[in-house]
Amino acid sequence: MSTHIAAAPGEIAPIVLFPGDPLRAKWIAENFLEGANLYSEVRGMLGFTGSWNGHRVSVQGSGMGQPSMSIYANELFDSYEVQTIVRVGSCGGLTEKVAMRDIIIANGACTDSGINRQRFHGLDYAPVADFSLLRAAVEASEALPLANTVHVGLLYSSDQFYSTRPELTEPLVAHGVLGVEMETSGLYTLAAYYGRRALAVCTVSDHLVTHEETTAQEREQTFGDMIEIALRAAVS
Ligand code: HPA
Repeated sequence: MSTHIAAAPGEIAPIVLFPGDPLRAKWIAENFLEGANLYSEVRGMLGFTGSWNGHRVSVQGSGMGQPSMSIYANELFDSYEVQTIVRVGSCGGLTEKVAMRDIIIANGACTDSGINRQRFHGLDYAPVADFSLLRAAVEASEALPLANTVHVGLLYSSDQFYSTRPELTEPLVAHGVLGVEMETSGLYTLAAYYGRRALAVCTVSDHLVTHEETTAQEREQTFGDMIEIALRAAVS
């Protein structure tokens, strides 16, 4: 048992899928894992362990934003010796290079968060994906018959869902950023600190240029492809 996760030692698998939404964690456990058992529901942040293609896999909700996600990632790495975390989430499209329901495999993430500035005494650290996971995710996406288009590129992990700084979009997009979400920069930084593997795979669920949004049913279908990519990469 760690401070925010009620699992006994060994109850969490070395491989964890990490959605923001705890009910998405339940949906993944029910639809993708065999024999999934709930190991924690502290604060409603559900976590399950089951198996996928013969590999033990856990799925743990992270909550939204780097402060919440960091609590769970720290405890997974530090108290449960998790080796691999793959974030499976949604993001907003920042450019017409990505369409609704496209999948972004994040090779790195920038942020407006103060967390890394505190951690590195003002220096701009570059949080990047684990290369073996990145490569495996790209290979998985090439091998699958996907309804979605897949991109490899940068995410912007913002501290604000309701942005007060729309002027940031243009320079970010001009420098290769494809989508906005709220967690990946912190996850990549913590994985580097603990010497473990992390990757974020996100589906474009709303679009800041075209102002489209997905329905719940569309999200379910397209999220399935993202989970399949994440699982194949995670067990690699
Ligand atoms: N902004 C921030 N985070 C998000 C978004 C967004 O538009 N969509 C999904 N996560």
